[in-house]
Amino acid sequence: MALVSMNQLLYRAESLNCAVGAFSVGNMEMIMGALSAAEEMNTPIILQIAEKRLQQSPLSLMAPMMVSAAKESRVDIAVHLDHGLTLECVKAALDYGFSSVMLDASLLPYDENIATTEQVVAMAGEYGATVEAELGVVGGNEGDTAEHKIVCTDPDTALDFCNRTRVDALAVAIGNAHGNYPVLPALRFDILEQIHKKTDVPLVLHGGTGITDEMFRRAISLGIRKINIATASFQALADHAKEYCLCVERADYFALSERMVNGVYENVKRHIAVFNNN
Ligand code: 13P
Repeated sequence: MALVSMNQLLYRAESLNCAVGAFSVGNMEMIMGALSAAEEMNTPIILQIAEKRLQQSPLSLMAPMMVSAAKESRVDIAVHLDHGLTLECVKAALDYGFSSVMLDASLLPYDENIATTEQVVAMAGEYGATVEAELGVVGGNEGDTAEHKIVCTDPDTALDFCNRTRVDALAVAIGNAHGNYPVLPALRFDILEQIHKKTDVPLVLHGGTGITDEMFRRAISLGIRKINIATASFQALADHAKEYCLCVERADYFALSERMVNGVYENVKRHIAVFNNN
């Protein structure tokens, strides 16, 4: 198996009526946990990292690990730049061999979102990489300090956006938010259904942490083909590390590392089981 384009995994998900899990990683343990879950479930996944996270986990260190993990894996894996903020970072990720990129221009005025996305599509095209874009405003934040207020994606605008930019995948805003939900969100499945009917691109659900299995299944039935999970994995790693440290007098690095891998493995495995939808 291999490092593959994200498009390949999205087409597979479409044909199987399931979704591919896109799991955010921030260190080696997270990569190892996600990988072993995917291999055990014999299911392709996407390994991704957001540009904001590169402050703690530099691209020059993370990218070679992510790409190498994908190449060595027993299942197909796409490596994706999540929430790129600059064209420079998008280019750097592509140069490192990422098979998919996103530059999140969703907070810009509509025409600027289109113009920026067109530049990304042109750049990624030179590498044969997949492009995801976002339309509408997903709530919460992606490592940012600002909390974004949700603005649901307009279905007609989604159609226009896809036609004009020719993106491969579209992240939608349907009441979803990054981070932990204070209360269970009321996702706008009616809006998702309209977007799905009007567009023919695979749709992406951000803010996967805290969404119920039933909601995931309903979203998949309405065209969601990629689901992003970040907070739940970071939390699982931290919880497992804390649990270990609390029950020993002196923490051992190697045992701690194993616990961190295991925390992420369990979280990824649980989500893959739901996203496989069988
Ligand atoms: P969560 O942190 O809510 O899982 O969201 C992940 C995400 O959408 C990354 O882009």
